[in-house]
Amino acid sequence: MVMTTNKPILVLGGTGKTGKRVVARLRDRGFTARAASRNGETTFDWHDEGTWGAALDGAGAVYMVDLVDEPVEWDPAVSVRSFCEQAVAAGVERLTLLQARTDEEAGGKSLTGSEDIVRASGLQWTILRPTWFTQNFDEGVLLDGIMAGHLRVPAGDGLEPFVDCADVADVAVASLTRDGHAGRLYELTGPEAITFGQAVAEIARATGREIRYEAVTHEQYVDDLVAVGTPGEYAELLADLIGQIRKGKNAHLSDGVQRALGREPISFAEYAENAVAEGAWRV
Ligand SMILES: NC(=O)c1ccc[n+]([C@@H]2O[C@H](COP(=O)([O-])OP(=O)(O)OC[C@H]3O[C@@H](n4cnc5c(N)ncnc54)[C@H](OP(=O)(O)O)[C@@H]3O)[C@@H](O)[C@H]2O)c1
Repeated sequence: MVMTTNKPILVLGGTGKTGKRVVARLRDRGFTARAASRNGETTFDWHDEGTWGAALDGAGAVYMVDLVDEPVEWDPAVSVRSFCEQAVAAGVERLTLLQARTDEEAGGKSLTGSEDIVRASGLQWTILRPTWFTQNFDEGVLLDGIMAGHLRVPAGDGLEPFVDCADVADVAVASLTRDGHAGRLYELTGPEAITFGQAVAEIARATGREIRYEAVTHEQYVDDLVAVGTPGEYAELLADLIGQIRKGKNAHLSDGVQRALGREPISFAEYAENAVAEGAWRV
């Protein structure tokens, strides 16, 4: 049964890798979606509560992207709790929270710190815990290395089942618009775990370019990022996250895409082909 058909759906992180895909899918299906962020069509700033009321006004559901992995001082125990209270007061019924599939801290932070707050909010919640996005290679932190033809990351030969943001967005949309997903936690991965070397080889094949992967140390990676202006704390967080891959902590597959959608997730090879077709990595 389709729910929340006549109320707008507020999409936080609406300009980001998953949020923009959630917005596009909702609109394609005839829902009203508010693409919200600091620079989004709807202004929403986690650091400015004055922006929250208008964003929430009349909304029936929320896709929540928080700031747990951003290089800023931000406490979900304050911000997410306050946001959820305002959402309940505004009449929001359901909320889908994006977190990450990791139980370990990175950069001294938990990347699942909003989960308990959302669970206790009184909203019908769904939690998504994706692993590393394939889109990091063409829209995110790995893009510069791919464009330079030389990706240096401290992943060693660790296996990572990269998940496509299209799959994350499909699960998010299902949970926001259909029954049967309330109270569920979906861990989301792609269909196979591969090394960074294999991922780079797939992109090289799809683009016809020569691109190589070099396994560097945690310290070399942090130095590389800081040299191009990345804040040190954020560089440490990223290096810790990639270190989890190097240590084999991410290698296992999860079945959240299959459970939520009843289909297999997109493979890395399909992702690379789709990205090229959409214009990624053009020189
Ligand atoms: N990247 C991955 O591989 C990965 C994997 C698993 C989980 N995740 C999780 O996904 C979440 C987002 O990561 P991402 O890689 O998808 O990032 P992203 O594509 O850069 O998206 C981040 C979004 O947050 C918005 N934003 C940033 N600061 C904000 C603020 N102060 N107030 C309101 N909105 C703000 C940004 O828009 P504006 O700049 O316009 O504000 C953007 O829409 C994180 O919680 C991360 O832990 C990421």
